[in-house]
Amino acid sequence: MSSTVFVETQGCQMNVYDADRMADVLVAEAGFRRVDAPEEADVLLLNTCSVREKAQEKVFSHLGRWRRHKERRPGTLIGVGGCVASQEGGGIVRRAPFVDLVFGPQTLHRLPEMVARARGGGGPQIDVSFPEIEKFDRLPEPRAEGFTAFVSIMEGCSKYCSFCVVPYTRGDEISRPFEDVVAEVAALAEQGVREVDLLGQNVNAYRGPMDDGTEADLGLLIHYLAAIDGIDRIRFTTSHPAEFNQGLVDAYREVPELASYLHLPVQSGSDLILRLMKRGYAVAEYEALIAEVRAARPGIALATDLIVGFPGETADEFEETVAMTERVVFDGGAFSFVYSSRPGTPAADLTDDTPPEVKRARLHRLQALLQAQQLEAARRLVGSVQAVLVEGPSRRNPAELTGRTPCNRTVNFPGESWMAGRFADVRVTGARAHSLRGEVVAVERPPRPVAVAD
Ligand code: SAM
Ligand code: F3S
Repeated sequence: MSSTVFVETQGCQMNVYDADRMADVLVAEAGFRRVDAPEEADVLLLNTCSVREKAQEKVFSHLGRWRRHKERRPGTLIGVGGCVASQEGGGIVRRAPFVDLVFGPQTLHRLPEMVARARGGGGPQIDVSFPEIEKFDRLPEPRAEGFTAFVSIMEGCSKYCSFCVVPYTRGDEISRPFEDVVAEVAALAEQGVREVDLLGQNVNAYRGPMDDGTEADLGLLIHYLAAIDGIDRIRFTTSHPAEFNQGLVDAYREVPELASYLHLPVQSGSDLILRLMKRGYAVAEYEALIAEVRAARPGIALATDLIVGFPGETADEFEETVAMTERVVFDGGAFSFVYSSRPGTPAADLTDDTPPEVKRARLHRLQALLQAQQLEAARRLVGSVQAVLVEGPSRRNPAELTGRTPCNRTVNFPGESWMAGRFADVRVTGARAHSLRGEVVAVERPPRPVAVAD
């Protein structure tokens, strides 16, 4: 009987992607089967996040629960991957000696060997090195599981924002070769994928080496991917303002397949704080860039990330963030956080004398404004007709279908299962806090061939 693996993941989209690759590599190379319940698994993998303290704290309590599974099923292996593993390395096994495998975001493809050695009595296996791009050469060909797919095009981050652990846990930026990405997307399209989401911590820092010796940036890659037969919608996550070049602005003007949505973290509306954060741009530059993108693609939805309570942020700097938010209007949503000091980052050494309750109050005020902006934008969509790729049954109510608007809002609507995988014109009939309601006005014809699993 084949062995079984269960993967639990925390954190960002990159981690969700990596978690799937962990299962893929064990399935392809070691004959594993992926299961949905930890109690059925021979190998339990936790893919961790250390971007904020809260996520990191959860790791050891989670492992404590898994220890009990292991006691009930001797021979079970427990593995820890992701950013906490990368930072702590062998420290994980010292604190939790029942852990058998510790691997980083760049070594997850070595899991089959690590599992074999641990099973062979080799003791705890620890490998959190950064062997460049070897990971992608070693991972099995991705298989489509629906009509949308994530495609990782670059790894790591070289921006070293003063508050962030990612450059230390995931290593410096490295881009996958252009031709590899194009081939992967073409293979996914052949399996029925119609929408791809290009992933990277700083995806617009993409500089993919090309066979002719030159480099492709994200704008050029988007042009090529849009030309692939079957690929009708392209998204990317997440971009950095300082890497946003003219080619990417032009892609919004020239490539209709590029979705009308942009997630561009600003972090703060104060130039002083942006400098302390080492973000590499000023507020006015961010706003000018947004104006250019909005001119290139009228109606585009803008999302962002914001940090409040960064060391040195007084009431004045916070008011600048509120004022910037009012001017820019984040109609596509926002992820906002209280600053969390991360050991080993330069910002951890800055004096931070704002009381936690003041920071929390600032966050609440900012979030109320952001939510109002988002709800207002959702209400404006009511009555409009949106091109939605029908992804399948809705999770909440399987009798309904679900998909996303170009501006990345989930819309649920009555429909029939044959519509899955096709674009439908959906009239928005209602706006809720996290999703829209709609009704189908037209469905694309002739039908596209549906992906067949072999
Ligand atoms: N590459 C993206 C960018 O351009 O900023 C961000 C990637 S980061 C992993 C995701 C988000 O987590 C950041 O945008 C930031 O808002 C938040 N974040 C990172 N470090 C943080 C910290 N120490 N405290 C609070 N939030 C943090
Ligand atoms: Fe982190 Fe800044 Fe990179 S937020 S992921 S160091 S762009």
